[in-house]
Amino acid sequence: MITQLGYVGFAVTDLERWELVATKVVGLAVSARGDDGTLYLRMDEYHHRILVHPGDSDDISYIGWQVKGPAELVAMTERLRAAGVEVTPGTTEQIEVRKVRDLVRFEDPAGYAMEIFYGPLDRVHEPFVPARPMVGFKASEQGLGHVVLRVPDRDACERFYIDVLGLKLSDYGSGKLAFFHCNPRHHSLAIAPADQIPGPRRIIHIMLEALSLDDLGTAMDLCEQHGVPMLETLGKHPNDLMVSFYLETPSKFGIEYGFGGRDIDDATWEVRRYDKRDLWGHRRIAQPATAPTGHG
Ligand SMILES: [Fe+2]
Repeated sequence: MITQLGYVGFAVTDLERWELVATKVVGLAVSARGDDGTLYLRMDEYHHRILVHPGDSDDISYIGWQVKGPAELVAMTERLRAAGVEVTPGTTEQIEVRKVRDLVRFEDPAGYAMEIFYGPLDRVHEPFVPARPMVGFKASEQGLGHVVLRVPDRDACERFYIDVLGLKLSDYGSGKLAFFHCNPRHHSLAIAPADQIPGPRRIIHIMLEALSLDDLGTAMDLCEQHGVPMLETLGKHPNDLMVSFYLETPSKFGIEYGFGGRDIDDATWEVRRYDKRDLWGHRRIAQPATAPTGHG
């Protein structure tokens, strides 16, 4: 079974600007650089959580789901194949780039490249030092945060994530969004019907959760200081109870910068539906040629 959202990879046209936003504003640390300029971004004891590759799409390239170990990787592979999904072993290069012990790849019903892996590189002996003053990020066993993806067929994706990937339904939001979890983090993945929330990229946003409200407030100040557009003001979602604001990455999708999200206890959790996007706040800030950030 999937234990957490382990890593994500992006392909971006402006690596230099990405580095500035990721470090000076968001607070992530650059833990390594690939020969091609790939940025390895760190937020906890993992060597990296986000890989920013040079590329043309300015979109998400792959999503890495972690399992406990080799037996679980085999089990997930068999489970995917039994559902008729084509699964390919990771190449030597892919395994080296991601610095994991092993991985397999497949596409979800929306065509997103997904990977199941185990054995990420742990650098606990060199504690995470944020690139700007802050307490840090809530990650580790809860994974790196969450991603919200546009999908053409929401129902097909919902069935796939639950029945095949084994994610658990958290709740439903306004705009036909569906939220899924795999550990106490309220959601590691959410999906939105592409026709409900149109936009220039397939990914709507990635969420990173700070450990302190001051880390979040400081990020808002730093957006102003470095000319990083904010997409939405401070606000709070009714389902995950996360206080957050949204900034725009140089690739024109969002980063939700959060604090204080609720945990899910599967022993007592009940699925609910919400028809209001926000408890308060999250006023959209008009951006030329910028799409809404999506919910959650
Ligand atoms: Fe979100």
